[in-house]
Amino acid sequence: MRNPQVMDFLVPYVFTLFLSFPCLILLLVNLVFLVAVHGRIPTTLEGFEPEQISVSLSANHDSVWISWITGEFQIGYDIKALDPKTVSSVVRYGMVKCTLEHEAIGHSLVYNQLYPFEGLQNYTSGIIHHVRLTGLNPSTVYYYQCGDPSVQAMSDIFSFRTMPVSGPWSYPDRVAVVGDLGLTYNTTATISHIINNKPDLVLLLGDVTYANLYLTNGTGSDCYSCTFAETPIHECYQPRWDYWGRFMQNLVSKVPLMVVEGNHEIEQQAGNKAFVAYSSRFAFPSEESGSSSTFYYSFNAGGIHFVMLGAYIAYNKTADQYKWLERDLDSVDRSITPWLVATWHPPWYSSYKAHYREAECMRVAMEELLYSYGVDVVFNGHVHAYERSNRVYNYSLDPCGPVYITVGDGGNREKMAIGFADEPGNCPDPLSTPDEYMGGFCATNFTFGPAMGKFCWERQPDYSAFRESSFGHGIFEVKNETWALWTWYRNQDSYNDVGDQIYIVRQPDICPVHQSAKQHCFAAI
Ligand SMILES: [Fe+2]
Repeated sequence: MRNPQVMDFLVPYVFTLFLSFPCLILLLVNLVFLVAVHGRIPTTLEGFEPEQISVSLSANHDSVWISWITGEFQIGYDIKALDPKTVSSVVRYGMVKCTLEHEAIGHSLVYNQLYPFEGLQNYTSGIIHHVRLTGLNPSTVYYYQCGDPSVQAMSDIFSFRTMPVSGPWSYPDRVAVVGDLGLTYNTTATISHIINNKPDLVLLLGDVTYANLYLTNGTGSDCYSCTFAETPIHECYQPRWDYWGRFMQNLVSKVPLMVVEGNHEIEQQAGNKAFVAYSSRFAFPSEESGSSSTFYYSFNAGGIHFVMLGAYIAYNKTADQYKWLERDLDSVDRSITPWLVATWHPPWYSSYKAHYREAECMRVAMEELLYSYGVDVVFNGHVHAYERSNRVYNYSLDPCGPVYITVGDGGNREKMAIGFADEPGNCPDPLSTPDEYMGGFCATNFTFGPAMGKFCWERQPDYSAFRESSFGHGIFEVKNETWALWTWYRNQDSYNDVGDQIYIVRQPDICPVHQSAKQHCFAAI
């Protein structure tokens, strides 16, 4: 941040020097400001003008959420939370830019990230607003502005396009899929490539800002274990969320963003609280999709039913998430939404050494359910590289299993995954593989197939079709009820170069999908 008193002191000297050495001084001044703002994206607004504006979908085409933040966050040893009641949550919207004839009112909140330990700073957010718009037409551009008109703090006018109506011939043109974004130079390249691909929707598969790789004084770390080993709690620097929200506004104020949580969103704090920033900052269609949690929910985008699952909360058969998933899958009518896509953060089918078979307990608990309902595609993040699988179920190639695609290559500040578990000396000790937040140990040696009796394959596994360590993102284009085009783009390539591309083909004739008893009853009448 710029300090006015320092600037007042410096300006006369800079002006005098400028007269003597103009080019040198311009260069030095630029360098100072570059260093000052590196990695930090300050607000340019005053008072309660909206910032970090974003759009996310509700469960169907006729409703979206608009979210934004007003007021300054505070970080330090003595903070005082803002009162969310001081600013209203209003969205004015309509199909004609000059007459925003509709108005919707929502709710607001603030959250705290508290560390009652000596030397650690506390954080309290700006006021976070979420407003749901309803009664929208499909495939329609709506203009909107958000804020509080009573304090003359309304945003500029933005626009978004609603999803197409659900049906077997009705799909969004392009769905961008990305994971593990962070806020780095690689992130800016990824987002630039995504914007160039003009997506209708963006899926973000967890590990959003990497705020938990920063101490509360803002110092970043690339060494997760050594930097935080001595601190009383794994602290994080919450302003990174605000910088990320400001950076992303250019895209997500126009294109809906749907997020699922990753391990970097855990962000533990005092009182055994976790995931507070994630759950507070985004709007989720949880209630609209019958979920009582921000960690799992579902929504339709045209003829695609998306299921977003939580890997860092309970997922076994007795858990609320599993019971919700059974109900949700049972309610899907594949004659209306033929495509069924599931996402969560850590992949089940990855052949990289990093996080190898880490989510095995989740796979054991949930794979059969997803398979029985004919999930077509699974998108994951977490592993910082790209990998696409063949259709697979229980580690065997199966024409009716999902295609698993890992795109944890969004551009985070951690290292890229480059080694494979099947390379000599790379197979990890099985006991080292479970994630401490996922619970349990389920990764045993294979009992059949080419890797039988071993924990790792000795060559690229049959389930792995294509793998490469490059930052990038993917575009999912459903063409009709049986064909979809998947394309992966690398950041280092020019915009139109393709890193990997394949048609994913559904075969409902040989893979009949599980239909609910209710739908069978209706069919019989
Ligand atoms: Fe992760």
